[in-house]
Amino acid sequence: MIAQATSVLESRTSLRPAIGLVLGSGLGAFADELTERVEIPYAYIPGWPVSTAAGHAGKLVIGKLDGLPIAVMAGRAHLYEGYRPAQVVFPMRILRGFGVRSMVFTNAAGGINTALEQGNLVLISDHINLQGSNPLVGANDEELGPRFPDMSEAYSRRYREIAKAVALELCIYMPEGVYAGMLGPSYETPAEIRFLRAIGADVVGMSTVAEVIAARHLGMEVLAVSCVTNLAAGVAEGKINHDEVLETGAAVRDTLVKFLRMVLPRLEQE
Ligand code: HPA
Repeated sequence: MIAQATSVLESRTSLRPAIGLVLGSGLGAFADELTERVEIPYAYIPGWPVSTAAGHAGKLVIGKLDGLPIAVMAGRAHLYEGYRPAQVVFPMRILRGFGVRSMVFTNAAGGINTALEQGNLVLISDHINLQGSNPLVGANDEELGPRFPDMSEAYSRRYREIAKAVALELCIYMPEGVYAGMLGPSYETPAEIRFLRAIGADVVGMSTVAEVIAARHLGMEVLAVSCVTNLAAGVAEGKINHDEVLETGAAVRDTLVKFLRMVLPRLEQE
């Protein structure tokens, strides 16, 4: 199945990107910045899960960003949509087969740490998997990776240093933080947010964790950035709604695009 999907990508473009980028809620328009691009709807790639969440376009865009070949996922599948963990991470395996060695993830997240404000970007330093599943459960394919992959540096220290240097150059405030991955789709209760804060989480979301586990299993190096689209439940007055999440994502889009433009080429060097 992986080889079949990979050959679809290979037949559509002569580009062979080493970097993959996943765009979170409200951030899909970044893919429009690519030149020489081909857009492949997920439905055309064998085995690729088709996202149903609002704000997720659902296509793989392969093209160049300022001359750098890159594979951009505009939209991703979430566990809360009912996909099995293995389906959610299947794109990682296809991209690895296609030659991608570095993955950059973006996502929308709620701010748990009270120092965070709506619209902040957070460099994910680590995660806590509370999704109730692991994408590597089941028989292990030794050709993909080891049975018991190490997760002590899931989010590359080297990439984080590059990201911090770029953030500094661009005057973007980008603290590091721990991402708590929840199943969703309901947002958390205030009690759950207090619990997450107590166990060391700074931001909370419903994606990324499964994909990062699979990417690390495949030996890929990972960078991930959360956009704090809202303060988490109980942190501030008021309810959380998905429209607000999408609007904040759109508002920080320009900052994130500037950041990515500068970071992505530097991940390849060295
Ligand atoms: N909780 C979980 N996921 C989210 C949130 C949140 O507050 N905001 C955006 N994604």
